[in-house]
Amino acid sequence: MSTGPFDVPSATGLYDVIHRRRDVRSQFNGEPVPGDVLTRVLAAAHAAPSVGLSQPWDFILVEDSGTRRAFHDHVQRERDVFAASLTGAEAERFAQIKIDGVLESSLSVVVTYDAERAGPAVLGRHAIADAGLYSVCLAIQNLWLAATAEGMGVGWVSFYREPFVQNLLGIPDGIRPVAWLCLGPVTHLEVVPDLERRGWRNRLPLETVVRRERW
Ligand SMILES: Cc1cc2nc3c(=O)[nH]c(=O)nc-3n(C[C@H](O)[C@H](O)[C@H](O)COP(=O)(O)O)c2cc1C
Repeated sequence: MSTGPFDVPSATGLYDVIHRRRDVRSQFNGEPVPGDVLTRVLAAAHAAPSVGLSQPWDFILVEDSGTRRAFHDHVQRERDVFAASLTGAEAERFAQIKIDGVLESSLSVVVTYDAERAGPAVLGRHAIADAGLYSVCLAIQNLWLAATAEGMGVGWVSFYREPFVQNLLGIPDGIRPVAWLCLGPVTHLEVVPDLERRGWRNRLPLETVVRRERW
């Protein structure tokens, strides 16, 4: 069985979702995520491509407020570590930036990478070990876009040390937490990314990153 070419309305819908997607920190409204919606979003993540069809991801759903509080405290400490590396105007700009919505979002989804899954002979990974990690990131992007299509927001939090999260969530040795994602309904999605609105950095013009034939 095969599928035909995209029809124009669904392609338009896909591009719309891609451009509407935002990293969310401040707009979570804390409303619960209905079970069927969560299942659809996770199924979209699980439909991602993966090297050798290894599907090296797991999704840990974290609702417990104590666990999320403990993670949030850790994130604040790591925020301080990063802030200490900044000076002057950059330090002032960073002080205005919110870097997570762990407590305000409805739940967290922690996405992990198991390099042993489908191994040791993972088709397509023998020369590029990172291909396994790339696969996990594609699942994360699918999740992010599906959540956007469902009218929700996702915020990726990376201000953490992997051993802390492994210990907090009982993740076995050898399995890496790749992303702590905050998920939930939002009041709205901003049109311009937070970091642009705060003057931290702008999206580069497309023509500056497209090269022809050679670097
Ligand atoms: C790997 C990765 C890690 C990120 N970590 C954080 C984070 O710790 N805190 C945060 O506020 N945003 C984080 N972000 C979100 C980016 O800041 C955001 O994607 C970027 O500013 C562009 O904004 P947009 O996603 O709304 O287009 C992360 C994004 C990625 C892809």
